[in-house]
Amino acid sequence: MKAELFPAGSGSPRDLQIDVMAQGDLPAVLRIEGVSFSTSWPANAFSNEIRDNKLAHYFVGRLDGEIVAYGGIWVILEDSHITTIAVHPDFRGRRLGEVMLLKLLGEAIAQGASWITLEVRESNDVAQKLYRKYGFTTVSTRRGYYSDNGENALVMWAGNLKGELYGARLRVLRATLDTDPSPRSG
Ligand SMILES: CC(C)(COP(=O)(O)OP(=O)(O)OC[C@H]1O[C@@H](n2cnc3c(N)ncnc32)[C@H](O)[C@@H]1OP(=O)(O)O)[C@@H](O)C(=O)NCCC(=O)NCCS
Repeated sequence: MKAELFPAGSGSPRDLQIDVMAQGDLPAVLRIEGVSFSTSWPANAFSNEIRDNKLAHYFVGRLDGEIVAYGGIWVILEDSHITTIAVHPDFRGRRLGEVMLLKLLGEAIAQGASWITLEVRESNDVAQKLYRKYGFTTVSTRRGYYSDNGENALVMWAGNLKGELYGARLRVLRATLDTDPSPRSG
């Protein structure tokens, strides 16, 4: 079905339209959630986040009107936390995760955050590589953090988000996406 909706050649990072997540987006978000994480957030978790949590900022990314990615952050004064980010498996490796991460970082900075943190499974090399590309470093390990298999979480962190150096890094990465939107090769 999706192949018909997304013919070859469509779906570059430039095409990703990012909107604030709304209640009506949740069925599509939950479908991606279900195929992206071994322990999924239930519908009411997303619902509560976007309806009740004033610190939360959630977004969806659409290609040709179809939700293919989402992500969220909390911002508490100068602190921010990436709570989730995912791209539908059929659309990974097209730099859409990167576009969504840029959106989350931009929103965190716009809301006044100076630093940002997240937890990631120790085995999730792909996500860790993405975060390192955006200046995150591992600051600690939470032993047995994930209840499904007892896996450790790495706590990653990026700081001085409003500094000139980090701003320059984001500008370069964004410009690279704009000028070379081709899918990653490896
Ligand atoms: C992590 C995730 C969001 C990345 O999204 P994506 O659209 O596939 O990634 P992109 O195409 O934007 O790639 C951006 C960067 O991510 C890393 N990356 C992506 N795919 C990779 C792969 N197969 N192998 C290694 N690194 C990879 C690279 O750093 C890449 O940049 P580079 O090509 O310049 O090296 C996606 O894999 C996903 O949804 N995974 C399941 C959910 C998840 O693990 N979320 C994170 C929870 S902490």
